[in-house]
Amino acid sequence: MSDTTRGTDGPGDGTRAVRAGLPEPVKHEPTLPGPVFAAHFHLPGDPTGPYTYGRDENPTWTLLEQAVGELEAPGRDDVETLVFASGMAAISAVLFSQLRAGDAVVLPDDGYQALPLARAQLEAYGIEVRTAPTGGDAQLEVLEGAKLLWIETPSNPGLDVCDVRRLADAAHAQGALVAVDNTLATPLGQRPLELGADFAVASGTKQLTGHGDVLLGYVAGRDAEAMAAVRRWRKIVGAIPGPMEAWLAHRSIATLQLRVERQNATALRLAEALRERPEVTGLRYPGLPDDPAHKIASQQMRRYGCVVSFTLPSRDRADRFLDALRLVDDATSFGGVRSTAERRGRWGGDAVPEGFVRFSVGAEDPEDLIADVLRALDATAG
Ligand SMILES: Cc1ncc(COP(=O)(O)O)c(C=O)c1O
Repeated sequence: MSDTTRGTDGPGDGTRAVRAGLPEPVKHEPTLPGPVFAAHFHLPGDPTGPYTYGRDENPTWTLLEQAVGELEAPGRDDVETLVFASGMAAISAVLFSQLRAGDAVVLPDDGYQALPLARAQLEAYGIEVRTAPTGGDAQLEVLEGAKLLWIETPSNPGLDVCDVRRLADAAHAQGALVAVDNTLATPLGQRPLELGADFAVASGTKQLTGHGDVLLGYVAGRDAEAMAAVRRWRKIVGAIPGPMEAWLAHRSIATLQLRVERQNATALRLAEALRERPEVTGLRYPGLPDDPAHKIASQQMRRYGCVVSFTLPSRDRADRFLDALRLVDDATSFGGVRSTAERRGRWGGDAVPEGFVRFSVGAEDPEDLIADVLRALDATAG
């Protein structure tokens, strides 16, 4: 893995995170201006921007979009970022603004569990949907003639990884656009636009904001025409974040580097501890040197995320394990400063064994967290 604290382009990630999206200092003004609560803005005369109506633009979004753009595409001014009410709003904005009846799209078959819902809707609109697994770059096999390739790497919850550059080159060679769901890695873990993608899309609900109190999504893209369509979609659908959520997200990004360093380092330690346990099978963490995804992950990721997946022998064992944990909340979602874990099969949407656990490592002291996990495993043995 390359140096995790300094990018190739100027300041380190911590410096960039604390300063991301801040306006130029103005005497007597706060460093990060507070949320602007406005449905409309004073607008005498011709209705020109930047701020006219609150569904189109908001100064609090502008600063957040600047911040996310600086992290996803440092040093580039050809990238536009748009924030949305949730990750699904951002995903839908790309899918439904770029595709028309008769087009074909390639989705992962092991991605986030709401993608099949999007698939059904796309098909209802006359769009052909093809799917293939993330691992082994299998999406290459079904790419021919597609208009858009949707990649999710690492995939949630299986944590498989594909070669973004290889897939993007193949897609571009035949005129397809490429979107990468960057939720799990965060922009400090992976920069899809630098790897050749046209869109970096993410749920900011997860580690980007990291406190489990905000729903947010974003699309960062480098194709002006495609981004104009995404912006138009946001206006039509109105899937916009509230100013308070946008401001909370921006404030949270200041600690992103601290959180990912801590959480991801502990995730690796947890994975190493779980590897020693006989009742644990199917352990996945892209940062483990012997993980099947490690080789390609180490080439395209700068950090490996805070999620560890593994399987316990049965549904009952997994339920009892989750119940026995004291420092880990049984909850869905991931990326927060408080560890969460869940038996993923309870939702019914993922092709995972009954005992499959998705574990999101928080910012607790690593010794405390790992001791809690090992104690819960011991307590539920037999
Ligand atoms: C990889 C991935 N993408 C997108 C989403 C959807 O994000 P949101 O819940 O913010 O709509 C999720 C949610 O878990 C996710 O894990």
